[in-house]
Amino acid sequence: MKNIRNFCIIAHIDHGKSTLADRLLEATNTLSQRELQAQVLDNMDLEREKGITIKSHAIQMEYLYQGEKYVLNLIDTPGHVDFSYEVSRAIASCEGALLIVDATQGIQAQTISNLYLALGHDLEIIPVINKIDMEAAMVDEVKDQIVDLLGCKPEEILAASGKTGVGVEEILQAIVERIPAPTGKEDEPLQALIFDSVFNSFRGIIAYFRIFNGSIRKGDKVKFFNTGSEYDADEIGVLKLKMSPRNELKTGDVGYIISGIKTSFDVKVGDTITHVDNPCKEAIAGFEDVKPMVFAGLYPVESDQYEDLRASLEKLQLNDASLTYEPESSLALGFGFRCGFLGLLHMEIIQERLYREFDMDVITTVPNVSYKVHTSKGEVIDVHNPSGLPEPTMIDVIEEPYIMAQIITQSDYLGTVMKLCIDKRGTLKNQVFITQDRVEVNFEMPLAEIVFDFYDKLKSISRGYASFDYHQTGYKPSKLAKLDILLNGEPVDALSSLIYHEHAYDFGRKMCEKLKELIPRQQFDIAIQAAIGAKIIARETVKAVRKDVTAKCYGGDISRKRKLLEKQKKGKKRMRQVGNVEVPQEAFLAVLKME
Ligand code: GTP
Repeated sequence: MKNIRNFCIIAHIDHGKSTLADRLLEATNTLSQRELQAQVLDNMDLEREKGITIKSHAIQMEYLYQGEKYVLNLIDTPGHVDFSYEVSRAIASCEGALLIVDATQGIQAQTISNLYLALGHDLEIIPVINKIDMEAAMVDEVKDQIVDLLGCKPEEILAASGKTGVGVEEILQAIVERIPAPTGKEDEPLQALIFDSVFNSFRGIIAYFRIFNGSIRKGDKVKFFNTGSEYDADEIGVLKLKMSPRNELKTGDVGYIISGIKTSFDVKVGDTITHVDNPCKEAIAGFEDVKPMVFAGLYPVESDQYEDLRASLEKLQLNDASLTYEPESSLALGFGFRCGFLGLLHMEIIQERLYREFDMDVITTVPNVSYKVHTSKGEVIDVHNPSGLPEPTMIDVIEEPYIMAQIITQSDYLGTVMKLCIDKRGTLKNQVFITQDRVEVNFEMPLAEIVFDFYDKLKSISRGYASFDYHQTGYKPSKLAKLDILLNGEPVDALSSLIYHEHAYDFGRKMCEKLKELIPRQQFDIAIQAAIGAKIIARETVKAVRKDVTAKCYGGDISRKRKLLEKQKKGKKRMRQVGNVEVPQEAFLAVLKME
């Protein structure tokens, strides 16, 4: 145990985390140059494209330090607020963290929010200034920022380049020297924290864990503390570039377990693994059953693909327990599913995975949070879809979910950040200066106000400097109005939304304006109206056009014409016919694009 070091890397997006991780793997010969195809750690296609590590992974390295062999376990962390629970479990599995800061950018939003998580778990922080090979590197300035933030000595800050490999050896030494070895008792009952799990179509669920006390042997009967499910440990092992089976893992080790688990509901990130005989007394603290925060309808573009969509969602859910779905139907769109997501990024990822992995083209409808409706009969019902709201006369009170937001910003931007939060119905709860020019504010806000564009707005008004994190605090009564959209006089239920009553008029007007931009001109005029109850509050018209795409090519170049028509067909994907109007996917998400 004394020669184990468990650590993670925390960094703002693009500060070079993956590149540096590759260098560590290379320097410890975990991976040869040939295997080092760029950025091994992000192996999901989608992750690479989006430039964010969506699912955390772990990898073990061996390092010789002053003649002694050390085992270094690197636990990778995703860097987006949608996945902050996964980050917190990964961090809880480590004793130390490399804090990577880009020498050309300085400290940025996520550097700080993840740093706070790490400090909250008493991790030893090793600050590293990266990309020092670049001409624009401002090593001294960034050093000052780090000293300010951490209160460390300038000599404690390392400088490196993931590109040239400078400083990589020093980082490895610092990991051994500064990060404490795991503590824990080998003779106590098994207590292991699941910090991630992946689904493998041949082997079922593979859970990654870190042992805090006790040990586990291949073949042991184990139990997941919070879900209560029991399994045999068919295979256990450590994570090298590939899985490497072992007969026993002990306190301090990081490893994986395969036990023929078929569904992600049995194995939840944050749960504790223990033995069926001789279980530990309590679970490792901090387990949360992650609940979806945002709901939206998913409908097949081709309505006969409903059953295929159901099968695809079922499969996706096996490896992503945070996705929920239930059948719903819409007058406008037919049969589909109401799905629950962790956030908008999660929603986008699911839509994209449906397309890539299952060849399913889906229309996503306006996302919303969930509401608690107290009816006049004294019942409380959960409403995940505005069109599922009871008749107004049947409603006593509607409650909406609230969150506590933690925002850290440079004090220069404090005024604009405050204004944004207040516009979003926030109430200031606390304000603390962390350093001279860095301040933390806490706002209580409705979740509905932050799920759409809050994070992007916050980033743009603070030039990327404000960091943001939140946790749900409960439900509060609210005055909400149901806003309906009508196309040529027909209400389109998939475009309905629940809006804070004071914002409803403004929202309705903007929604009509945006829809006018997004709905293509057709052979007749299209009236777009916003209504609250029977009252029309806004109207726009999409003027008719005679649409003849081939008119542009003169003469008889038939192949050219065909190409154009093909292109037009493709452009028609993700469109749905609503009444006599063709509505493109973007229109259903218009609310996300409004100013
Ligand atoms: P996410 O996984 O998206 O959070 O990004 P990351 O922090 O892992 O960053 P990544 O390693 O993907 O690096 C981002 C960009 O910076 C890439 O284009 C790298 O090639 C480049 N880069 C990383 N490290 C260095 C460095 O030390 N010097 C230079 N010049 N470029 C670097």
